[in-house]
Amino acid sequence: MKGIRFSENVARIDISGIRKIFEAAGQDAINLGLGQPDFDTPEHIKTAAIKAINEGFTGYTVGTGIPELREALSCKFKEENKFSVSAEEIIVTSGASEALAIALAALLNHGDEVLISNPGFVSYNALTGILSGKAVSVPLAEDLTMKPEAVLERITPKTRAIILNSPSNPTGSVASRADIKALAEIADDHNITIISDEVYEYFIYEGEHVSPASYSDNVITVNATSKSYAMTGWRLGYVAARKDYIDQMLKVHQYIQACANSIAQKAAYAAVTGPKDTVTEMREEFRKRREVLIKGLNELGMECLPPKGAFYAFPKVSNSAEVASKLISNGIIVTPGTAFGSEGDGHIRISYAASMKDIERALSIMEKVL
Ligand SMILES: Cc1ncc(COP(=O)(O)O)c(C=O)c1O
Repeated sequence: MKGIRFSENVARIDISGIRKIFEAAGQDAINLGLGQPDFDTPEHIKTAAIKAINEGFTGYTVGTGIPELREALSCKFKEENKFSVSAEEIIVTSGASEALAIALAALLNHGDEVLISNPGFVSYNALTGILSGKAVSVPLAEDLTMKPEAVLERITPKTRAIILNSPSNPTGSVASRADIKALAEIADDHNITIISDEVYEYFIYEGEHVSPASYSDNVITVNATSKSYAMTGWRLGYVAARKDYIDQMLKVHQYIQACANSIAQKAAYAAVTGPKDTVTEMREEFRKRREVLIKGLNELGMECLPPKGAFYAFPKVSNSAEVASKLISNGIIVTPGTAFGSEGDGHIRISYAASMKDIERALSIMEKVL
């Protein structure tokens, strides 16, 4: 038998819990497990991509990304997120996924600690481990947000980064301005970097979106067109930070990615500079579905905080794995909270990026089987 010695960092990691669930579900199951809008990419964005192909814009671009897109993002950050970054302080990446990876790669040495909310988005722990760092869990408060006090208690001389994700996957919680300001102060006081994953910024139903970079420049802001413009498959994200961060991240980006997809960059330019009515339409549709879903879950006796943002409900259940597998065997795909960390036990994640018809059908099946 051949004995290949694989990377221990990689061997230790489990295949994503979410994938296992999809594979177990039947073909015509109602899918409330997906983390992507059930909308098509808007026409004007597709047209820009087709134009790019027809004009032969199909080669490598400059590694940081096409200048007009970085300029447009620089304006977006100033207008919407209330902080200043120049086009030189932005790298266009292959989705938020690559942005997170290059941010962590730039920061971590062996054993360095990263504070990560538990439950939290699956990639944070995995990427930290792949990059030889140590993920340190931060349990969430009652309102399912990460509190500055909980972060402060876990800071050690090895802490290098705090990953903040507001609005959050999987809980749908939105951090308050006061908490974000306090976290930014902690980052400054301890010389720690906040990696702020803002991919759900446009999907807020209560409260406001606040970027920590509006309070501190010890912040790497990660975002993507994936969720905002229903473009998950286009693989287009971006990262904004001070030039010293960018210089390090750019090296990683150049060697693992060279540049983001040229056609998707043109499409992203059309998205960022074009009309935003499709974003509003999506948000208002999610808002309606959220109301129906939360009301339905509460009527079933499932305790569920109304999620303030993103497109996930995170109700309490007696046993995550049992309830998820019972629902899956009855044709409804949901994700057990444990897929997002040990503290997700006692919850399931239900995505409402699915049609109203599917949400209503799922609620009526749940009423029978739970
Ligand atoms: C919180 C969060 N960050 C990042 C990503 C990855 O985004 P992208 O598809 O742009 O790589 C996701 C996708 O589900 C997510 O939920």
